Amino acid sequence: MQMIPVECVVRNIAAGGLVKRLGVEEGIALTPPTFELFLKNDEKGDPMINESLAETFGWATPEQLAKMKVLTFKVNHILKALFAEGDMLLVDYKLEFGVFKGEVVLGDEFSPDGCRLWDANTREKLDKDRFRQGLGGVIEAYEEVGRRLGITFPA
Ligand code: TYD
Repeated sequence: MQMIPVECVVRNIAAGGLVKRLGVEEGIALTPPTFELFLKNDEKGDPMINESLAETFGWATPEQLAKMKVLTFKVNHILKALFAEGDMLLVDYKLEFGVFKGEVVLGDEFSPDGCRLWDANTREKLDKDRFRQGLGGVIEAYEEVGRRLGITFPA
């Protein structure tokens, strides 16, 4: 698969970069959910881009971006419900895509490293923010996410 160097971010609840950038309150519901694009470029710190820039610089075609948007929201629909069953809120997440046999398909991984998950009742953070914010209990939180999804771990 040929990876497309554009990351797609959907947000259901305000947190992280959005709160920093716009000064909105963390935790507010985003209706409808937002869709953002970032360039995969570690040197530049994965800057935010838009469809026009992606087309002009050849990072992705408008057709590819349209497909990526549809698939990213489809994933939102499925994963929001999946995590809700485990009493978790899918706050936001990042997806990456690639081209395989001429088709845009989902690539990369999905884990609490690339999404935000909160306990639905207490809003306790169960994702990488535990590490980013020095909250501790990172491994325990990831295991808790797994347990709530019905995944068992070796002792
Ligand atoms: P965002 O809030 O924009 O950035 P940060 O995590 O630095 O505060 O990220 C939104 C979601 O997308 C978040 O769950 C983390 C994920 N994400 C990545 O995993 N890698 C990335 O390069 C980007 C831009 C986002």
